[in-house]
Amino acid sequence: MVDLSVKVGGLRLKNPIMPASGTFAEELTHLLDFNQLGALVTKTITSEKRTGNPMPRVCELADGMMNAIGIPSKGADLFIENVIPFYKGFDSPLIVSISAPTAQGFADLAARLSDIPGVAGIEANISCPNLEAHGQSFGMQAQSTRSVVTLMREVTSLPLWVKLTPNAGEVVPIALAAQDAGADAVVVGNTLLGLSIDIERARARLGNFMGGMSGAAIRPLMVRLTYQCAQALEIPVIGCGGIATADDALEFIYAGASAVQVGTATFLHPKTMNTMVGELQAFCQRKGVSSIATLIGALDDSPAEPFGAQP
Ligand SMILES: Cc1cc2nc3c(=O)[nH]c(=O)nc-3n(C[C@H](O)[C@H](O)[C@H](O)COP(=O)(O)O)c2cc1C
Repeated sequence: MVDLSVKVGGLRLKNPIMPASGTFAEELTHLLDFNQLGALVTKTITSEKRTGNPMPRVCELADGMMNAIGIPSKGADLFIENVIPFYKGFDSPLIVSISAPTAQGFADLAARLSDIPGVAGIEANISCPNLEAHGQSFGMQAQSTRSVVTLMREVTSLPLWVKLTPNAGEVVPIALAAQDAGADAVVVGNTLLGLSIDIERARARLGNFMGGMSGAAIRPLMVRLTYQCAQALEIPVIGCGGIATADDALEFIYAGASAVQVGTATFLHPKTMNTMVGELQAFCQRKGVSSIATLIGALDDSPAEPFGAQP
């Protein structure tokens, strides 16, 4: 039997497969075995109620999708009252994704969640606009990342994961700032800002004009960022972006990810994450690997072989 367990940012997970925030919710329990997941990651919540962006909020791409949902939220009170109790019925750890318009707002919500039984960890979605920096995302700069993570670290001893944005371009200095400020892990990462145009109407396809690209189209970019972050950091990296099969997940794991998150693929095939766990087992068995943890960062970075060479 292959050991699929991994250690990630203060938690031991039974396997490295977990959902990406915003693409997973309670209703999926009818289609997916939650107890087979390494962790359960919620949609990003905010303290206050938020309505989200104008419709349409999603559109399809040739090799992925775009969304500009805008983090609609029923607020933390309702979430704590209704959603957290639901997840207590499962044995996979619950990671609550949070967001706020100010660094202090992140810290207040992190502090509040730390007192709630059933919350195993916090994932800070720092891709949201920072009202104290003219609406630029916290995750675009090392300094604003450091400030927001420092404030959260002061108020919570829960495992604290920081989800980075690829839109920053140079992501490694931002990942290092998160690590220095006390993050237990980074998630690499959120969607990539794009613009899709309906040429018949000469208008943007999304109500918010621009939106975040996800799915297979962004995978090589996210594998590259995962590799660069894993090379530079001491804390674990969680890979995310375009993962739909165990082979995709293994690319991230070889690049240095200790675990991975699956988003867009779940919309196409809701059972994807459960299927991937079985495929990971089969891959490890075929390769004679007794523990998947030994594959983390095991990329052989010598030059690729010429076409036609046998593996
Ligand atoms: C419809 C949709 C909603 C999302 N909502 C959130 C969210 O609330 N919080 C967050 O951190 N990321 C959110 N994301 C980003 C995903 O968690 C993930 O980082 C991104 O989609 C890349 O992974 P994928 O290619 O597997 O989808 C959302 C993505 C999609 C497609």
